[in-house]
Amino acid sequence: MKPDGVFRCRENVSHVPALFALVLPLGRDNLEPEFAPVELLVCATCRAGQPTDIEGPRPGAQLTEALSAMDWPAHVTVRAVECLSNCDSGCSLAVRGGTDRWTYVYGNFTGADDATLVHEGIVKYANTADGIVPWRERPVHFRKNCIARVPPINLPE
Ligand code: FES
Repeated sequence: MKPDGVFRCRENVSHVPALFALVLPLGRDNLEPEFAPVELLVCATCRAGQPTDIEGPRPGAQLTEALSAMDWPAHVTVRAVECLSNCDSGCSLAVRGGTDRWTYVYGNFTGADDATLVHEGIVKYANTADGIVPWRERPVHFRKNCIARVPPINLPE
C-alpha cells in the first residue's frame, strides 16, 4: 500500500477478475428492480374510429411510437402488438408483469396525444407488486376505460 492509502499492484494483476467476481454479484443484487418486469403492449393497428381507407400511420402506431420514445423505469418495456380484439374501443393497450400482478386492458385512447397519461398510469402500475393502483391515484382515463382485468397467475387466497 502506498502512503496515500491506495493499494497499487503492478506485479500480479491476475487477481483482478477474482475481485470482479466478488463485486459483481453484489452489484447485480443492488441493481435488481424492486418489482417484477412490466410489459406495456400497445396495439399499433388501432384506428381509433377512423375510416379504414385513411392515409398515413394509424393512431395506434402513433401512440406506440410516442410511448416508445418516452423515458421509462428500467423494468418497463414497451412493445407494439397487433389487435387486442378491442377495435371498436381503440386505441387499446394491455399491461402485465410477473406472476403476482393483475393484467389490465385499457381502451379509448385517441393516439399520440394520450402518451403522457398512459405513461403516468403505467409507471404507477409498475411501482406496485400486484398491479393494483389505488382507485383515486389512477388517471381518470384509466378509471373510465378499463376494458378488462385478468387475475395474476399467483392468485391471492
Ligand atoms: S386493431 Fe387495435 S384492438 Fe383491434
